[in-house]
Amino acid sequence: MNIAVIGTGYVGLVSGTCFAEMGNSVICVDVDHQKIEKLKQGIIPIYEPGLEEMVLENHKKGDLLFTTSLKEALKSAEVAFIAVGTPMGEDGSADLQYVLAVAREIGEGMDRYLVVVDKSTVPVGTADLVKETILAAQKARGVEIPFDVVSNPEFLKEGDAINDFMKPDRVVVGAESARAMEKMRELYAPFTRSHDRFIAMGVRSAEMTKYAANAMLATKISFMNEISNICEATGADVNDVRVGIGSDKRIGYSFIYPGCGYGGSCFPKDVKALEKIALEHGITPRVIGAVEEVNREQKKVLVRKITARFGENLQGKSFGIWGLSFKPETDDMREASSIVLIKELLARGATIKAYDPKAMEEARHFYLKEHPEILYTSNKYDALNGASAMVLVTEWKEFRSPDFYEIKNRLLEPVIFDGRNQYKKERLGEMGIEYHQIGVAI
Ligand code: NAD
Ligand code: UGA
Repeated sequence: MNIAVIGTGYVGLVSGTCFAEMGNSVICVDVDHQKIEKLKQGIIPIYEPGLEEMVLENHKKGDLLFTTSLKEALKSAEVAFIAVGTPMGEDGSADLQYVLAVAREIGEGMDRYLVVVDKSTVPVGTADLVKETILAAQKARGVEIPFDVVSNPEFLKEGDAINDFMKPDRVVVGAESARAMEKMRELYAPFTRSHDRFIAMGVRSAEMTKYAANAMLATKISFMNEISNICEATGADVNDVRVGIGSDKRIGYSFIYPGCGYGGSCFPKDVKALEKIALEHGITPRVIGAVEEVNREQKKVLVRKITARFGENLQGKSFGIWGLSFKPETDDMREASSIVLIKELLARGATIKAYDPKAMEEARHFYLKEHPEILYTSNKYDALNGASAMVLVTEWKEFRSPDFYEIKNRLLEPVIFDGRNQYKKERLGEMGIEYHQIGVAI
């Protein structure tokens, strides 16, 4: 099948590459000339395990092409995916300007029947807006070319995106026309063959499914973070409680890890957008609002622990930060807890040394660029030299079994703050390390 993917970010590049891997002819489009030029040269703009090899291979075969011209991509496309960003607008709702700009361009450029797919995460009712926008653009050209707008939200997670896309738990498609639904079934058949994981529904239900899924996952995390705070205050150990409740199949073990808050490009903005959707429709969402509020507070949990231990004034104190990305296996720092932590520590006069396996360039050039005083080190132990404490923010694999003797040697005082509960407190206790974790009283 000939496919155009518009927006070559995390979702667009992964989707386009996986469709090409299954033998489709894919053209990825982006307005970012630099990004497209780099991709043509085989330089991948993001770190995502396994992606580089797949992009290079499919590009070489000619199944995965890159362009800045949507018009060119539409020449042969049977299906066009809109995979541009839907960032949080000033009032908290999803900003649809990029989606609608693409819709307009599609209307201006299409010259035969096309299935237009909303893959971006968009509020309920957006497919109708996309349809109206395409119709208006066609009208301005004086043409009437048939098309369908379909909702096909994406559920991949960064760090494991290829696996999620190639072997999805489900593919949700909302369509009004049987012709468009059939096309989508055909396209996804190789991904859903072994089990029937293709879930067809109405367009609005598909749009809502995406927000409901993300809000449910975020709720599990915020709930667990609240439980962790109660555990800490009452002398319970949240690590035991997690296992205790997760063993109940109805609850399950996944997404109940307490920590220093959830980040990323999606949960924070999608929870907020869902709240706005509800309010716009006359519903006051209580649970959803609380999920976001708990998370905002939880992002400061390490600051609270550090100031409780060292005092509000951190002048003359240095902290060694392990992990900057919002989760392991990605260089993405959008809404990362590390940003909140580092800014709060700097504001109290502390100095910061930081190490991350993949995200230091992102931090230096974008997310923490207004703080040139941060020292980035080339290995995890150097970040601890002369520091008052080590602070683990992101649970990269290389932080799981570190050399605790080395940590002790490098630190001024043997103190660890762990925002992801990676270590055994008994082991650290035996070594004379003061270990602060989430949801366990010291
Ligand atoms: P991103 O910011 O990484 O990529 C978006 C791309 O779209 C950018 O490269 C940008 O230059 C391009 N773009 C903007 N306007 C354009 C236009 N008019 N024409 C062509 N390209 C244009 O975003 P992302 O993380 O890939 O997210 C895209 C959407 O998918 C969002 O709605 C997001 O909520 C959703 N989503 C993201 C993930 C994820 O893990 N990142 C997972 C599921 C769903
Ligand atoms: C999330 C969803 O998992 C994807 O299904 C969805 O497609 C995507 O959002 C999206 O809509 O963009 P992602 O943000 O890439 O994916 O990463 P997650 O693995 O969900 O982690 C999000 C945040 O939650 C991270 O900061 C992580 O540290 C935190 N988290 C996760 C916890 O604090 N505890 C947990 O138990 C799990």
